[in-house]
Order: sequence, then structure tokens, then C-alpha cells
Amino acid sequence: MQRPHGGKLISRHAAKEPAGVEELPAIEVATTAAEDIINIANGVLSPLTGFLGHDDLDCVIHHKRLGNDVPWTIPILFDLDTPDVREGDTILLTNQETGLRALLEVEELFDYDRTTLAKEIYATTDAQHPGVSAINSMRRHFAGGDILLVGHDRRQFDEYHLTPQETRVLFREKGWKEIVAFQTRNPPHLGHEYVQKTALTFADGIFINPLIGKKKPGDFRDEVILRSYEALMQHYYLQERSVMAILRTAMRYAGPREAVHHAIMRKNFGCTHFIVGRDHAGVGNYYGPYDAHDIFDEFPDLGITPVFFRSFSRCTKCDAIVNDKICPHGPEHHINFSGKKIRELLQQGKIPPEDMMRKEVAETILQFDHPFVE
Ligand code: ADX
Repeated sequence: MQRPHGGKLISRHAAKEPAGVEELPAIEVATTAAEDIINIANGVLSPLTGFLGHDDLDCVIHHKRLGNDVPWTIPILFDLDTPDVREGDTILLTNQETGLRALLEVEELFDYDRTTLAKEIYATTDAQHPGVSAINSMRRHFAGGDILLVGHDRRQFDEYHLTPQETRVLFREKGWKEIVAFQTRNPPHLGHEYVQKTALTFADGIFINPLIGKKKPGDFRDEVILRSYEALMQHYYLQERSVMAILRTAMRYAGPREAVHHAIMRKNFGCTHFIVGRDHAGVGNYYGPYDAHDIFDEFPDLGITPVFFRSFSRCTKCDAIVNDKICPHGPEHHINFSGKKIRELLQQGKIPPEDMMRKEVAETILQFDHPFVE
């Protein structure tokens, strides 16, 4: 079975309600922070046991590794501006939307230059970039330290929520050894289906792992993504070869760095391979279409194998789905699976052509009055 990142699957759950919790200073945190905390507690972010301190952050920013040399590309940070929190305090973190209750041992309070963060993580300081804008709106200080999850509520779509411990049991029960993971934030078009099925040809099973959580306006809503995958899988996938589970975390739109981060989380779920296609986790024109492939050269020790795909499109001459490695015909014969075009058609209530998106998927999306994040 795949080894967790850093060697050990982290679990940070309080066995019982710790004494004196109600007397601790409490901070209401954003839902994205609550999701980071739950992911740390469940081992999705192993080997992290809490939020990064200054030295680990500095290493992640400049070397794409934690202080102990384990590959890590996206800093998991806790920002705050409460003046009465001191180093050495234990604070209670709450979040209404998730019912989160967790303890943070504040080992360190520190500041870090925001421009450096933006430039290194997102390769831009343009405030139009959603990740940069998130950095710009972070509070004044950062707190590093271990977390302990006391509890949280059940939530919508929990029937699709699996922890790394649970996926590992599931994969073992299915007898899968080579498991290829697929990250997505979209309903599936034929390009998505094609990369998944091509990778599955070489593996025992596919782990389809849509990201559910904060996204930018214009992206598809979580329920639309899930229902459209249900439709696709019901009609076009083998049940014994595919599993879908959600991953609750914010999209960062950090392109190459996020591709590595996405791979690390799927390694913790027990996957051995990770699909990286065209402009993975990209937004606008901030990254080259294959920057997210090249970055993996820096991590021979990552411990999960990236499976790279060049952009698939439909070739009318081949009458097949192709990319520039297998098709000799020019772009005039190619129909791109453009997410933008598909969104525009759906916005007008039109079904995209069947050589872009399965009819069952398009019909599912059109059942929603408001399929997009506003
Ligand atoms: S992402 O932000 O999660 O990367 P999306 O859900 O569109 O966006 O993509 C999921 C995965 O499919 C990514 O690895 C992406 O690179 C890949 N992908 C999307 N469209 C294509 C395509 N036409 N050809 C090859 N890979 C693709």
C-alpha cells in the first residue's frame, strides 16, 4: 500500500472533549481554514500536524520543501489579528458553517512579506489573480502550531466524503494496487473523460476526487459537479473500476505548485499515480499550459507518479479524441474542449455538442437554475 507523504498518516482527533475548552479564548475562523484543520486532522495533509511556522514557510516558499526536506509547495497558514493572543496560548477555533471546534497551540506568531508570498506561490502579484487577492485580504499576523480537532457537524455531500484511512481500506478491499487519482473542479467534458480512461487503461482503478469548496465566481457549483459526475459514471464507467469521493478544500489557482500539492493529498489517500493535464489548476493566462508538468522534475522523491497528458481535442479527420503526440492533422481539424465555450452554451440554456460533452452530463447541468458560483 502507498506510503503516506512524510512516512506517517497523521491523525489529530481529540479522543474526548478536552477539559476547560469553554474557558479558552475563542476565534471564529473562515470555512476555508476550518476545512484545512479538518484535513490536517484526517491526514489529508500529512505530514502536517498543524499550521506552518516561519521557518517551514520560508523553506516552502524558497525551496518548495518543508524544513525537513519533505516536498511541499502550498503553505497551509493561519492568519489572525487578535492582539491578545500570545505565543504559548492554546486557543479554541470555531466555525459556524461546519460546526468546527478545534484547539490550536500557538507555538509561534510571525509576519511574512505578502508580495514574496504572492510572487513565489502564484508567480504574479496581480491583484486580479484570485490567490493573490486572497493573500491581500489575509489578516496581519500568522500563527504556527499544532491543531487538535474536537469535533464538527455532518455536512451536505457527506455521503461522498472519505478520509485517507477510509480510502485506503476501500482500495485494499477492491484489490487495487495501482490507483490513479484525478483532481477536478469542473463537470466532466470529453477531454476529462478521455484522460481518466486513458490513465485507467494502465491502472487498477481510478479515484475521481472533485474539489468541493470555495471557488471563484463563474466556476460551477459543487452540487452541479457532483450530479454531473454521477450521470457520467452511471452511463459510461465500470463501477468496479472507479470511485468518486469529494475533497473539501479551497481552489488556490496556483497552477504548477498546486499540481504538486494536489498530488501529495492524493498520495495520502493511497493513490499511486496522479493525472496532470493541460493548465492544471490554472486561471487566466498566468501559467503556461504545461508548467504544471515541468515542476515535477524538481521532485524525484515525491512518492507518487505524475501521469502527464497533453491537451486532448477532437479531430474531425481522425474521428477520434487526439492530442499533438498522436495526431498529424492541423488545428483546423481540431475541436477544443473549451470550458469557456461549454459554459457560454450552458448559460444560454443550450446543450453543448456531443463531441464536447456527454448529453447526460449536459442535461444534468441544465436542470439547475443557477449552475455557477455567483
Ligand atoms: S483543475 O483546476 O482541477 O485542473 P479541471 O477540472 O478542468 O481544472 O481539470 C482537471 C484535470 O483535467 C487537470 O489535470 C487538467 O489539466 C486536465 N484537463 C482538463 N482538460 C483537459 C484537456 N482537454 N486535455 C488534457 N487534460 C485536460
